[in-house]
This record gives sequence, C-alpha cells and structure tokens, in this order.
Amino acid sequence: MSKNCFPKWLDSAVFYEIYPQSFRDTNADGIGDLNGITEKLDYIKELGCNAIWINPCFDSPFGDAGYDVADYCKIAPRYGTNEDMKRLFIEAHKRGMHVLLDLVPGHTSWEHPWFKESMKAEKNPFTDRYIWTDSIWKEPAGYGSLRGISDRDGSCAVNFFSHQPALNYGYYAPDPNEPWQQSIDSEGPQGTIAAMTDVMRFWLKMGCDGFRVDMAGSLVKGDVDCKGTIKVWHQIRRFLDGEFPEAAMISEWGEPDKSIEGGFHMDFLLHFGPSRYNDLFRCEKPFFGGEGDVSEFVAKYMDNYEKSAGRGLICIPSGNHDMDRLARSVKGQKLKLAFAFLLTMPGAPFIYYGDEIGMRYVEGLTSVEGGYGRTGSRSPMQWDDSVNCGFGTSAPDKLYIPQDSSPDRPTVKAQLADETSLLSEVKRLTALRSAHSALQSRGGIEFVCAEKNSYPLAYVRSDDSERLLAAVNPSDKAVTFRSGFEDARLIYSIGSSQFSEGTLTLGAESFAVYEVQYG
Ligand code: NOJ
Ligand code: CA
Repeated sequence: MSKNCFPKWLDSAVFYEIYPQSFRDTNADGIGDLNGITEKLDYIKELGCNAIWINPCFDSPFGDAGYDVADYCKIAPRYGTNEDMKRLFIEAHKRGMHVLLDLVPGHTSWEHPWFKESMKAEKNPFTDRYIWTDSIWKEPAGYGSLRGISDRDGSCAVNFFSHQPALNYGYYAPDPNEPWQQSIDSEGPQGTIAAMTDVMRFWLKMGCDGFRVDMAGSLVKGDVDCKGTIKVWHQIRRFLDGEFPEAAMISEWGEPDKSIEGGFHMDFLLHFGPSRYNDLFRCEKPFFGGEGDVSEFVAKYMDNYEKSAGRGLICIPSGNHDMDRLARSVKGQKLKLAFAFLLTMPGAPFIYYGDEIGMRYVEGLTSVEGGYGRTGSRSPMQWDDSVNCGFGTSAPDKLYIPQDSSPDRPTVKAQLADETSLLSEVKRLTALRSAHSALQSRGGIEFVCAEKNSYPLAYVRSDDSERLLAAVNPSDKAVTFRSGFEDARLIYSIGSSQFSEGTLTLGAESFAVYEVQYG
C-alpha cells in the first residue's frame, strides 16, 4: 500500500476536460489556443468546476492529436508559448482553480529527437530509450513494431499508432534468451524514468498542479498483472513525495486497485477495461437511456471502491475525447439525470467540454489528427450564435474540424438564458455538490437499490456531518422503492418525487436527493 500524500483540493474538486484545439480560438487561425482557455476560466468557474485537465498541448506533429509528443517541455506553437501556459496557471490559481496537464510517459512521436538518436546504428545515450529487438527480423512478441526505417538492425516496439514508438521501461521478467529485453532496474529504463521525472519537474515548477497520465498501466512490457508498471510508479511516487507532495496524479488505467497501489490519487472508469462504465451511457441499452441494467456496474464499482477506499479515489467522466459524445445515446431530460448521477458520486467528477450543453457527436466527419471515429466528439465548442458559434473568427472553412451544422445546435449563450436548460441544471448540481461535503470526493457511498433490469438506482452518501439519499429514475415509468428510512427531507429534485412512510416514489425521468436521519 502506498502512503502517498493526498492533495487536499481533490476532496472538493470538480474537473472540466479541455481539448485545447477545440475550445476557443483567439487568433482566428481556426484552432483553439491557450489564451482561449485563459479567457474562458470565468465560464468554467461559474459552471462550478474548480479544476481543469488540458489534453496534450506540447510540440507535436499531431498524428494523434498531440499524444505523439515531439518536445515534452515546449508548448506547441499553434497553442501559444510556455509564457502563455505560465499565465494560464497564474490566472487559474487566482480563481482558486487547479490545472492538470496530460503526461504521455509511454511513447513519443517518431519525430522526437530521442527517437531520431535511438534510430542510429552507432551506440549513443538514446540507444536504449526505446524498446528495440536485436535484429530487424525479430519483432517484439505481443507488440506492434517499426522495422526497416533506419540503419539500426532491430525492430522498435510501438504503443498505439505506428508513429508512437514505446519508451523503454523494461520487461517484467526479461527472457534470458532475448538479451535486448532489459530489466526495470537496468540503465536504459532508469534513464527513461529520470527523463520523465525531469519533464514532470519542469511543469510542476512552472505552476502545474499535477497530471492526467496517459496509458498509465502499460509502461513495463510482458507485465500481465502490472506488477512491473506499479514498481515504476512507486519510484516516481518517491520523487513526487520528496519534491512535489501537493501534485495530483490521475491515471488513465481503468483498474483503480492497481493504479492506486501504484501511488495514483485517482483512476478513471473508462470505456475499456473491466469497470462496466459503458453500461451507464454507452452500450446497446444504457441505463441512462431508460431501458438498461445498472446492477453489474454497481457490483463492479463496489468491488473497486472497497479495494481503494481510504487510499485513493475513483472518478467517473461524462465522456472524453476518445468516447462517443454522451448526447449520442442519452437524450433530453435523461441527460440531466446522467449529470445528476455523475455529480453526486464519490471521487472527483469530470465534465468533458461541451457535454454540459449536450453537444452532439458530429456524424460523418473524415478523420482529423488521428481521431478516426473519435473526430465527431472533438468538434469546436459552441459558445453563441455568432460566426463559428463564437469559437473563433476564422473563415468557417478554416476550422480544423467542422462544427455541428444543425439549426438547433446547443450553445452556451442560449442555455445560460434558459433556467430549464441542461447547462442551468448542471450549474445547480455543482452548487448542490459544493454545499454538501457528503456528496464530495470522500463522502461514503452505499447503494440501497440497484436491482437487475430495474429502476430506480438509489444510494446513500454520508460523512460525519450528514446523510443523503439520492435516487435516479431515467426510465419512462414512475417507480417506487422501500427506502429503509422513516423520515426524509427533500433538498433537490428533477421531475417529480414523493416520500411517504419510508417509500420513495420517483416519476418518469426523475431524480431526487433527500436528507435522511441516522437510524
Ligand atoms: C489514450 C488517449 O486518451 C488517446 O487519445 C490516445 O490516442 C492514446 N492514449 C495514445 O496515447
Ligand atoms: Ca488559435
């Protein structure tokens, strides 16, 4: 068990994920930028989010939207400068907000200078920075590889796309017959870890508050149970505890028990992996679509919760840049219920930019920057009814991804003016969360109704000061359940609800939070 420091601010954090190229373009080149994010900090704060995660914004050829880094310590010129980033940290901190950058420790772009050196036949300080076999005719079993691209006689493992060579953190159990497989403790992997801690130090010193870590569970190769990768994260944790104990570390891993064991503070539930997250919003019959089943999600959630309680947190995102937009499968009032759930669960919630207004998946787009099917979830933010929906003033055909062209596309401006909009509901929900410590990251949770193929879903959130019963019914029929409480006081509702003699009745498409007494 790791004894890592826990940044206090995570207790009440609500995150907003910003895909920088699509948020706000201040210099009319058709692409979002850092000054655009700084300009919109007040909007994010008013939404009730006090922390942001910015997808990779470093120098890159953008073959995978910036997850193919060419210089870890330089802001991509299209987004601005390192000085702009510094100003963004300062402006966020002035508003009591925190900023996470995206750390991509597992691979670089094949244009990274480290890789260019590593490709050379002559031995040099970067020869072992990546995972190379010792012959062009031998591939690293179980991984994709690059071959025949330079004079070096070997194949190089790749992590994701073919242009993303895998950095060398070693093999969990190197095969003695394959001397190119190195142990975690050998010079090559230790050099990679040192280089990555230098990157973290660079941004943390500048004012960054921590990292969302890309593919955090896949550093060490041949590591089925992730024991080697956990060992690497322990080493990085020791560095952080020594130099930056307040830095928040959140993993893209999808297995909280492993991630938290490695010293992360939070782990995402994701559209891949064993968490059953897709049952909520993204499967053939999602629970929040009104005809699904939540019981397996709840069983898995509690399993993860019990394994991680007291040590780290589980965070549930509304979506992200890799998933279909939430509004593709959850519609109308049901979107409000999805947010009601997300914003009353433990761990810090994450709102993907635009989900708060129900931005749609833009169908039929050609892939942009390695997005493929993900491109439709990455279209430029819809702020208002001016040119390009207020994203920026470039010619509309200069937008690097086209926007939703439907006449009824949602915008921030229209929804701010409408008390009944999704955005207004999300603002009320973040205010509710902020007013009740039991609803925040560390408040306890107990599910009191989560039956197979049945509605509602109900859970009790509690801490030393209060106990709250939340119940959500995304189905199209009214439902009742025996709460087990004698008395309850309504503090929040969407749709209709009634509590009488211990029985809670929720109307179709409804949500309620009640204050209940300790029994
Ligand atoms: C996960 C990121 O979220 C995704 O966008 C990216 O393509 C892969 N990791 C590779 O870095
Ligand atoms: Ca721009």
